[in-house]
Amino acid sequence: MRGLLEKKVLFFGGKGGVGKTTCASATALAASHAGKRVLLVSTDPAHSTSDIFEREIGPEPVELLPNLWGLEIDGALESQRYVANVKEQIKGLFGDHILKEANKQIDLAASMPGAEEMALFDRIGGLIRGEDTRFDLIVFDTAPTGHTLRLIRMPELMEAWIRALSRSRQAMLGIEQDDKTDPVMLSLKGRLEGLREFRARLLSPRVSAFMLVLVAERLPIEETARAIDQLNDAGVSIGGLVVNRILPATSPDPFLQSRHAQEVVYLDEIDRRFAKLPRVRVPQLASDVHGVKTLEALSKILIPDPCHVAN
Ligand SMILES: Nc1ncnc2c1ncn2[C@@H]1O[C@H](COP(=O)(O)OP(=O)(O)OP(=O)(O)O)[C@@H](O)[C@H]1O
Ligand SMILES: [Mg+2]
Repeated sequence: MRGLLEKKVLFFGGKGGVGKTTCASATALAASHAGKRVLLVSTDPAHSTSDIFEREIGPEPVELLPNLWGLEIDGALESQRYVANVKEQIKGLFGDHILKEANKQIDLAASMPGAEEMALFDRIGGLIRGEDTRFDLIVFDTAPTGHTLRLIRMPELMEAWIRALSRSRQAMLGIEQDDKTDPVMLSLKGRLEGLREFRARLLSPRVSAFMLVLVAERLPIEETARAIDQLNDAGVSIGGLVVNRILPATSPDPFLQSRHAQEVVYLDEIDRRFAKLPRVRVPQLASDVHGVKTLEALSKILIPDPCHVAN
């Protein structure tokens, strides 16, 4: 898994509770030890990076350790910021009367379902485009798979949508596609360029990779297979699988022996079905993963000896 630290953007996804936050945090820590300036971003509305680092983390990057920052994105807050920003942008474009009406429409749009997701997407887009130059690597701890895969398809959908908006604006004003006089067209063009860059970085295997975390059980295996298909469809490169919480093989306890026997069958299945992808196995630790010390142990399993990685 060493090649991972050469990327610029890493996502950790998988079914609920399999260890996404734990593995994302441990990888971010390993990268920071290797001299990368790392931002660990939680996009899950139920944030838990602050629990694991036992520190308050908010909507702006906070330094957790040398070379390691944390950020928890909040959809509602991003949506408010987004609205304020759009209102600011259109301020000079219209007269008072139209502006009042436009602001009313914007407030209405912001209260629609999906608005928070859209604002979240915008913030993630900015991070993926590398707007914050303080960081060499951004590690995303994502919400359970479905939500994240939707976000990953968003640049594509938004591009189509903005192109349609541009076409109807052109038709309405009777202007050419490259007209530079209409501020609305200029703004749409700017958004389109931003989206293209977002998509290019997301789809570049040199820049981004998606890590899938699972445990050796039936449902997580099936969900992983589905996620692989969807990521392949979307053209996002898969960095590998983390098979987490593997039980000890040598326990004298009959209950654990029986669990282990079942696990071996699933581990074989994982090796067979996902043979093409790099895989790393992480043992079940004796207690929950809290605090930097336990994370250190995990990060050594995920990325052994990262010190050789060049900046
Ligand atoms: N290898 C491990 N050994 C022991 N405990 C682990 C291990 N991996 C994860 N855990 C524990 O399992 C629980 C779930 O892990 P984590 O929060 O990382 O999962 P998640 O996939 O992010 O969950 P969610 O879908 O709720 O965000 C946590 O209490 C964590 O400490
Ligand atoms: Mg989590």
